[in-house]
Amino acid sequence: MYNSKIIGLGKYLPENVVTNTDLEKIMETSDAWIQERTGIKERRHILKGDGNSTSVMGVKAAKIAIERAGLTPNDIDFILFATLSPDYYFPGSGVLVQEALAIPDCPAMDIRMQCSGFVYALATADQFIKTGMYKNVLVIGSEYHSGGLDMTTRGRNISVIFGDGAGAAVLTRSENTKEGILCSHLHSEGKHAEELSLIGPNTGRWVPEILSANDPDDISYYPYMNGQFVFKNAVVRFSEVINKGLVTAGWKKEEIGMLIPHQANLRIAQFVQKKFGLSDAQVYNNIERYGNTTAASIPIALTEAWEEGKVVQGTKVVLAAFGSGFTWGSVMIQW
Ligand code: UT7
Repeated sequence: MYNSKIIGLGKYLPENVVTNTDLEKIMETSDAWIQERTGIKERRHILKGDGNSTSVMGVKAAKIAIERAGLTPNDIDFILFATLSPDYYFPGSGVLVQEALAIPDCPAMDIRMQCSGFVYALATADQFIKTGMYKNVLVIGSEYHSGGLDMTTRGRNISVIFGDGAGAAVLTRSENTKEGILCSHLHSEGKHAEELSLIGPNTGRWVPEILSANDPDDISYYPYMNGQFVFKNAVVRFSEVINKGLVTAGWKKEEIGMLIPHQANLRIAQFVQKKFGLSDAQVYNNIERYGNTTAASIPIALTEAWEEGKVVQGTKVVLAAFGSGFTWGSVMIQW
């Protein structure tokens, strides 16, 4: 019997900081509205031409994680790449990472589970390690949102929220089954697929059709979110799936050393914190600095919490996510 444990973490954020005040200049919004509704003060946006892409950011985060793990790229047996903003429609970004890291022919798989992507990817890595199929797995969450947002007043309910960035983790096999990933719980509910989605282009309406229609009011190629509906579902599902994890791991909520919720909205994280009666020291948030970076938000936050010495050997770590799909999940890690 094996467990999988995280032995290296890394993150990359583009240097370009976009504050709420910057956004006030290009759309009808306000620093006060954004902070009050979401907790966000600033986010990072890739500058066009700075060389970054979803996979490039992922590679930057991955190199740090691999080095901190004390490994080299050639030690990686499997790459899992979580994103909703892949470099290309196809192939996935995982193979681009594999090529950039010059790993000869290890499998590289993309995980398209949006905000829950990193949690799904960790759970997948864990299963491959537990069965003994792979020893060292590189898991990346990376998003390049800013190039595809409607940065006008029309798209403000979405565009003020999302930011760019990447995080990565290296998992390895451990024979100590009391440490590492103890359990994961994954869920989806496809009936709400379009409540948080980007549906155009799609296989019923390919790119040439959209372009030939030349309709300035067609916003199907921008993300859409039914904000309040998503919010209401998020708080319920976060709580449910954290509870499931606590029960399976046999942990009491007071024992949680660090809860790292997907950074969707500070209000959601605060709701969950209150519901479980957790102190500020038990929950990690950085949405005020990076916005919502979707699949990258948990690995970026986990990396920061570890860098700040808030996640150390013995810490009981809870990761939880909810997002488009709807999809949601949790992973309990005995560090
Ligand atoms: O990461 C995946 C999961 N995502 C989430 O969990 C996000 C869940 N949803 C949310 O976080 C919130 O619903 C939002 C932050 C997206 C929006 O907050 P809200 O309190 O639900 O606002 P709302 O959409 O109900 O809009 C309230 C008002 C509207 O104006 P009226 O109709 O009351 O006049 C909007 O037009 O706020 C307006 N508004 C804005 N005003 C200034 C919407 N976006 C903005 C904006 N700046 N950026």
